Amino acid sequence: AVPVLTIDGPSGAGKGTVSRLVAKMLGWHYLDSGSIYRSLALAVSKQGIDLADEAGIVKAAEAMRLEFECGEELTVRLNGQDITAEIPLESTGNRASTVAAIPEVRRVLLKKQRDFKQLPGLVADGRDMGTVVFPEAPFKVFLTASASERAVRRYKQLKEKGIDANLVQITNEIEERDRRDRERATAPLAMASDALFLDSSDMTIDSVVEEILNLVRK
Ligand code: CDP
Repeated sequence: AVPVLTIDGPSGAGKGTVSRLVAKMLGWHYLDSGSIYRSLALAVSKQGIDLADEAGIVKAAEAMRLEFECGEELTVRLNGQDITAEIPLESTGNRASTVAAIPEVRRVLLKKQRDFKQLPGLVADGRDMGTVVFPEAPFKVFLTASASERAVRRYKQLKEKGIDANLVQITNEIEERDRRDRERATAPLAMASDALFLDSSDMTIDSVVEEILNLVRK
């Protein structure tokens, strides 16, 4: 069986950074499931589909051709077009959480995500990796941090990428997105009953990575 490590949690908890490091150290594949929802949000806006047009969004999800290329940075191509620069924008994340709330969209994207489960192993980062997409995973983590700490981290991350950001606005957006992710009917953000709970508010990245590696190597 292919071992899977799932890392779920809210926006800005550090899942991306931690998951990438852990995957690198284990030599496993990495699934950034958020970037799939972000790509769909971009497909929808590029195709001029209204965010209220659920049937249109589901069609776009079915037709979407995605290619991921792991280099220095993760390159993402949507239907042949390089969308790497647009993926991290907050506007993309906000629209992603809207399309992610459509149950049929989540069903269509299940297979695309499960296809990442390949030897020698997979680190899967998202909201429902341990609960819905890979419930059979032997290793599960729920990574969180206080809302204010998550907002500061996201702010720094955007600044580092040269993206204009405003801390007050990001704090509001993170709270709004958390609420939407927790309250949606299908696959809401929730901790799997067999997950290790980690609050990273006062932890360094290295210590979070170490705790997770201990779980896998135990
Ligand atoms: O890194 P950040 O939390 O800002 O965003 P992300 O992980 O890229 O996810 C963007 C949005 O996609 C989230 O707010 C969720 O609504 C949605 N998402 C989801 O529903 N299920 C996942 N497995 C991953 C992301």
